[in-house]
Amino acid sequence: MRDWLKTLPKAELHLHIEGTLEPELMFELAGRNGITLPYDSIEAVRRAYDFSDLQSFLDLYYQGMAVLRTADDFRDLAMAYFRRAHAEGVVHVELMFDPQAHLARGVALAVPFEGLQRAMRQAERELGLSTALILSFLRDRPAEEAMAVLDQAGDYLAVVDAVGLDSAERGNPPEKFAAVFARARDLGLPRVAHAGEEGPADYVRQALDVLDVCRIDHGVRSLEDPALVERLRESRVPLTVCPLSNLRLKVVDTLEAHPLPAMLDAGLNLTLNSDDPAYFGGGMLENFLACRQAFGWDRETFRRLARNAVEAAFMTPARREMLLARIDAA
Ligand code: ADE
Ligand code: ZN
Repeated sequence: MRDWLKTLPKAELHLHIEGTLEPELMFELAGRNGITLPYDSIEAVRRAYDFSDLQSFLDLYYQGMAVLRTADDFRDLAMAYFRRAHAEGVVHVELMFDPQAHLARGVALAVPFEGLQRAMRQAERELGLSTALILSFLRDRPAEEAMAVLDQAGDYLAVVDAVGLDSAERGNPPEKFAAVFARARDLGLPRVAHAGEEGPADYVRQALDVLDVCRIDHGVRSLEDPALVERLRESRVPLTVCPLSNLRLKVVDTLEAHPLPAMLDAGLNLTLNSDDPAYFGGGMLENFLACRQAFGWDRETFRRLARNAVEAAFMTPARREMLLARIDAA
């Protein structure tokens, strides 16, 4: 099954590029930029990745990304991930990035944009990957700051495929960002948002009603509200679920206890994703394999999940057709 899952063409819709920073590259970039890390070895970094919840992860995630200073750093980070993903049979990657986390460290908006765009073009050329870019706002910072980023982004918005919403969910409801997402819609930008990861099902409803999103990132707590489940099923709004992330951040105690099978049974439009693969124990292939192990899913179930992702992706119609045909033939 591992070999087959590897050859299955996989599209990844929920990935934080800063969350692909492996400890080896963290040390290399720290050396390049004269930054001292609070760890004395790569093993010590990996040992620190023992999270109790989302916030305990975010603390290390924001600390780790401090080694990213130049456009070349962002290009190297993304290219390293694209190579690993390509080797796992990933054919399309939508990468989120957190400009506010970099601006707060004195890294200008142009830096991640330039570096990530270079890597995206290189991956399309050298690996045959298609890619999309999602500018994500930090929900635990003021909405005015997010609005300022949108205003500052200017010409770079031409290379943005969507805006997103991430970081600490509890106490930061989607409605806090109503004006920012309304502005994004006026600018013609599609919208996605993390909701129902640690926060309640009501945040999923708010993301749909107030932010007018076309996809929900995570959404695993949706099952707590039967009316919401019916709405999601009927509208086929895609949920980008991240099994290993949910396990490592203690959203679930074991993968066997994950609501994924119940969500499938409820007829929801699900996709599998890696979220922050460097922190959560593996990329797309490991997430697919973990589901195979925990739920015993057959090839048809994985084909369906792979199809859902391609159908929900920001890509050209021609590429979508081609990838759907490849999945059907797998
Ligand atoms: N930023 C990076 N990973 C995240 C996650 N799983 N939830 C919220 N914000 C994030
Ligand atoms: Zn995420």
